[in-house]
Amino acid sequence: MSYIDKFIEENKEQFNYYAKSKINKMNIPTELKESILYSLISNGKKIRPLIFLMMLDYYKIEYKKYYDIALSLELIHVYSLIHDDLPAMDNDNYRWGKLTNHKKFGEDVAILSGDAMQPLAYELIVNNDYVMCSNKLQLVDLLARYSGSEGMVAGQIYDIKESNYKISSDYLKNMHKLKTGRLITLPFLFSAIVSDNLCDLKLLKRFGEELGIAYQIKDDILDYYGEFKKIGKLPSDEKKITYLSFYGIENCQKMLIEHTNEAKRISKKLNNNFLYQLSEILLKRNS
Ligand code: IPE
Ligand code: IPE
Ligand code: MG
Ligand code: MG
Ligand code: MG
Repeated sequence: MSYIDKFIEENKEQFNYYAKSKINKMNIPTELKESILYSLISNGKKIRPLIFLMMLDYYKIEYKKYYDIALSLELIHVYSLIHDDLPAMDNDNYRWGKLTNHKKFGEDVAILSGDAMQPLAYELIVNNDYVMCSNKLQLVDLLARYSGSEGMVAGQIYDIKESNYKISSDYLKNMHKLKTGRLITLPFLFSAIVSDNLCDLKLLKRFGEELGIAYQIKDDILDYYGEFKKIGKLPSDEKKITYLSFYGIENCQKMLIEHTNEAKRISKKLNNNFLYQLSEILLKRNS
């Protein structure tokens, strides 16, 4: 078993347990709490928080002190998916092998849960006892920019308003870079900031971007060819232009490998074998 598989196996349950107790201790109205926990403690991969914690481990930092920061990343990711599934957006009924949040709790509660998860993410960063104040500012700034109107939300707009634009390979690449690449890049940048390895930031940003584009290409392929049992969602985005409908499966597979290879090249520049292995694992994922 690789270091990464072992780390995930050892830490995923602990992270879920931590997240659940943290939310449970808060004074949140029952309906909201149930809805937040329903989506947060699901069988999602938790790849963003786990990458952050693994990177801290790689940098030889006592990573368990930073669960709140890891949780902030997952909160933003989960909020983005609760809203992504809404009837006004992708209109999906299943996620993580069960009903989507709005199908279970209603659109009103689903929207409010997403709304609540965003400030909670910032609260967790600001109140962490171990990150230096100046570093907290950097984390908050990055989280805001990468998840907001110049980041993930911008990508989501390009995704839903594609008919307003001329679709080209650059358009699609930019959409992937924003809607998925930004949140996938964050754990790498967060780990460099928390561990004071600022000299790695530039290359990690490029690494995360390549990995993020590859991650969304893989998601488009899995959304179409994957099994419900493994991906926990049904084929979606059928009317939309995706990498798959634009390029076809063979070219998509090639581009997936090209972006993964570029990520691997950058990992070599960082002299980081862990990142190399991670690129390989995400390339082969089937859930
Ligand atoms: C799904 O992300 C949406 C994309 C940004 C591609 P994940 O595949 O990481 O979501 P989980 O693992 O189901 O939470
Ligand atoms: C969503 O992309 C990316 C987000 C920023 C939420 P998708 O719409 O392809 O994600 P899935 O397939 O529903 O998980
Ligand atoms: Mg979508
Ligand atoms: Mg979707
Ligand atoms: Mg998808």
